[in-house]
Amino acid sequence: MPKQTQPQQPWRIIKGQQSSYLDLSRMPSKILLLFLLSLFFTLSTISFFRLFIFTKTTTPPSTPTIHPISSSTHAATTTNLTSKELKLLTNLISKRSPCNLCIFGLHPQLLTLANLNNLGTTVFLEDDPKKIGSISIEPKTMQVYKIDHGLVAHEAYELLRHARADHSCSPRAGPLKSSRCRLALTRLPKVVYEREWDVVVVDGPSGDGSDAPGRMAVIYSAGMLARRRTGKVTDVVVHDVHRTVEMWYSWEFLCHENLESSKGKLWHFRVLGNSSSGGFCSTTGA
Ligand SMILES: *[C@@H]1O[C@H](CO)[C@@H](O)[C@H](O)[C@H]1NC(C)=O
Ligand SMILES: *[C@@H]1O[C@H](CO)[C@@H](O)[C@H](O)[C@H]1NC(C)=O
Repeated sequence: MPKQTQPQQPWRIIKGQQSSYLDLSRMPSKILLLFLLSLFFTLSTISFFRLFIFTKTTTPPSTPTIHPISSSTHAATTTNLTSKELKLLTNLISKRSPCNLCIFGLHPQLLTLANLNNLGTTVFLEDDPKKIGSISIEPKTMQVYKIDHGLVAHEAYELLRHARADHSCSPRAGPLKSSRCRLALTRLPKVVYEREWDVVVVDGPSGDGSDAPGRMAVIYSAGMLARRRTGKVTDVVVHDVHRTVEMWYSWEFLCHENLESSKGKLWHFRVLGNSSSGGFCSTTGA
């Protein structure tokens, strides 16, 4: 019996410099049909999931564009706040000052917030030693800590599923420091766990690429710090909400019902603490 030309490889994968594609003309028609069917199925599953995720939460107020995590192309490592965004933040801090202010991220614009809060306590938590080195601070009114972020942005979807399924991630799971939830930041400076924070600003880590450190754990942990203050209100402000991770995680752990205002790429949530609540958002039940 003569052997078929390509028994195990009905199609060839041709790798180019930039892309790889399938040579469909060499594919037997049954396999081609099967292939197209499975491609169709995969694509519709993906769009179903995206639909599921984005309809589960209420429509964002400013209908931001959705960038897939894998294809985010942000050249700049730091995005400056626009004047409108900065105004939202300065108004908020002026209103709550003197207060306990916890800021993830560090850049010159954020220092103005610490100066507004000079009678309160401000801590900056930054992972990039270059940013820490390039900024001079006023040690009396603010402290800067170097922290590490273990999670990269492309883990966001899997971690969200973990958080929904695992009881250790629930708001009533107990103190953040001893949490077993993979999204919990458990190795922050002691002061973060010991104090109660009136305002938490999320503008770090960079999250500007699928392999860059992502803000998943920061947004989750901000949500937990706020929930722990039963009966008290915590203002949580998240920057770069046009990006998938920031958007998903804000809706999941800070909730649309808590959205107080939004300007540009900034969302401001007011979260009433309740450490015995079973879920983060009332709309997701429990
Ligand atoms: C960002 O703001 C700082 C001042 O806070 C300024 O020096 C810098 O040039 C700005 N960068 C961009 C890209 O606008
Ligand atoms: C906290 O959540 C629990 C459980 O959902 C609820 O019974 C209780 O009324 C809430 N407390 C406040 C102050 O909202």
